[in-house]
Amino acid sequence: MAVLVTGGLGYVGCHSVKQLVERGEHVINLDNLIFGHKQAACGSEVVIGDIGDKTLLREIFSKYDIDAVMHFAALADVPESVADPRKYYDTNVAKSLALLDVMLEHDVKMMIFSSSAATFGEPQIVPIPEDHPKNPTNPYGRSKLMLEEILREYERAYGLRAISLRYFNASGADPSGEIGEDHNPEHHLIPIVLQVALGQRERVSIYGTDWPTKDGTCVRDYVHVNDLAQAHLLALDALRNGHQTTEYNLGNGNGYTVLEVIRTAEDVTGRKINTVSADRRPGDPAVLVASSEKIAKELGWKPKYPDLTTIIETAWKWHSTHPNGYE
Ligand code: UFG
Repeated sequence: MAVLVTGGLGYVGCHSVKQLVERGEHVINLDNLIFGHKQAACGSEVVIGDIGDKTLLREIFSKYDIDAVMHFAALADVPESVADPRKYYDTNVAKSLALLDVMLEHDVKMMIFSSSAATFGEPQIVPIPEDHPKNPTNPYGRSKLMLEEILREYERAYGLRAISLRYFNASGADPSGEIGEDHNPEHHLIPIVLQVALGQRERVSIYGTDWPTKDGTCVRDYVHVNDLAQAHLLALDALRNGHQTTEYNLGNGNGYTVLEVIRTAEDVTGRKINTVSADRRPGDPAVLVASSEKIAKELGWKPKYPDLTTIIETAWKWHSTHPNGYE
């Protein structure tokens, strides 16, 4: 029996693959290397290729006895999705449909899907529960919501069961220091802040200092990438035990401002992090904090690294030992 992981050489994917391999799963890791890194294979069997390539998918599903798919592969740059929505609906929706087609052809009927807090848009209640209204403010979030809705319909029509996991702000790195976050270009706050600490950037721009929050900067729910990975394993077990299609939010339920992140990073690194105030970034909500009570109650998910200092310490271990990422 094997698990097909798509995008398993990327950031959240590789941390999940590592945990799958460590517990003895046979992992087939399909990645097109656009954002993935060969060095992040973590003992999985890597196949280089695209999720939209049905010929390749048919070969994989014929060759291996796959019972479930963890589907990480996607584009995830919000501003780019606004500039080029076609690319996002093509990769995140149309290519996912190709993958689902081949799964159904081979009677593979379990999927764990990487969704996002971006499906909610501007929150009306915080912490955000799963049934909060969905009004994505960009094509990236809409593409994720579309696939969640498609998966609901595929359960009714074809009996394909799926668990969609809505990540809030994925952060940190495996404490081994062997794998971590390596995006090029980098847009995320914590790696940018740590690049300033390393002297690779002069300063971090703070996108808005007049938000309606305690210090005027945006609040986010930073969740450790290994805790996200753990949720994927719990979701896999649940599906194998017959769990129905559903969605879960993944966050710690604690929000931190941009300034709090910067101060914590200064404490962790012992270095000064220079900042500059900048305009608000279009599409940023002021506050995004998850309620993850549903997955805690139903699947027993309990974050192992809930505090921001630990999250940044693990990220710092990775960035300080791999200043140029995997290269
Ligand atoms: N920020 C800065 N300066 C920077 C980078 C970020 O001030 O240089 C701020 C952002 O404005 C935001 C916070 O830091 O308030 C976190 O920003 P990130 O880019 O790290 O993360 P986002 O909250 O924008 O994005 C995350 C995921 C997206 C997802 C989004 C909503 O990375 O994939 O949450 O779910 F779409």
